[in-house]
Amino acid sequence: MSVTLREMTVSDIPEVHKLETELFPEDAWPLAAFESELAHSDTRNYWVYESEDKVVGYAGLCTVLPISDVQTIAISPQFQGQGLGRKLLTLLVQTAKERKALDVMLEVRFDNPTAIALYESMGFVTIHRRVGYYKGGVDALIMRMQLDALQGQEEDNKA
Ligand SMILES: CC(C)(COP(=O)(O)OP(=O)(O)OC[C@H]1O[C@@H](n2cnc3c(N)ncnc32)[C@H](O)[C@@H]1OP(=O)(O)O)[C@@H](O)C(=O)NCCC(=O)NCCS
Repeated sequence: MSVTLREMTVSDIPEVHKLETELFPEDAWPLAAFESELAHSDTRNYWVYESEDKVVGYAGLCTVLPISDVQTIAISPQFQGQGLGRKLLTLLVQTAKERKALDVMLEVRFDNPTAIALYESMGFVTIHRRVGYYKGGVDALIMRMQLDALQGQEEDNKA
């Protein structure tokens, strides 16, 4: 099934929120949180994946320099494991670079090995563990990708 990527609009929010409650049963954002995010386009970038007119994934970034925060990233279960999450995260990191952030930060549940594996494989490093951060007492890992260090490496590689 073909999948297209485009910027999220206000009309996507009901479908995005439906997926959010399915994927994050304990920690789902309220619908109004997405409305508020999209209202702050000066600092936010949000995208959706669409297939057959249905939202099958979404992600968002908040940039307040010098940091970009991954606000959310999610792929519908039927579309997971096909590389879409990695592509979306690559786009978030690229956007953070374009917005001149020095670090990309995110937080992830300690009991989410799939997401942690994705983040580590892209170069995110755990810098803190917040004990009992999520509902139910699950710890959060705070992860960081240092873009200035990456840019330095890229320049070294070119030399
Ligand atoms: C985490 C998530 C966004 C990854 O998206 P995805 O499209 O399934 O991931 P991809 O197919 O791009 O795979 C990327 C990497 O994730 C990891 N991964 C994917 N599926 C995995 C699985 N079943 N088990 C372990 N690791 C897995 C692998 O490291 C994989 O890299 P590889 O294919 O090179 O081995 C997706 O699983 C998801 O939406 N999960 C539910 C919501 C969620 O947890 N969001 C993150 C909140 S912090």
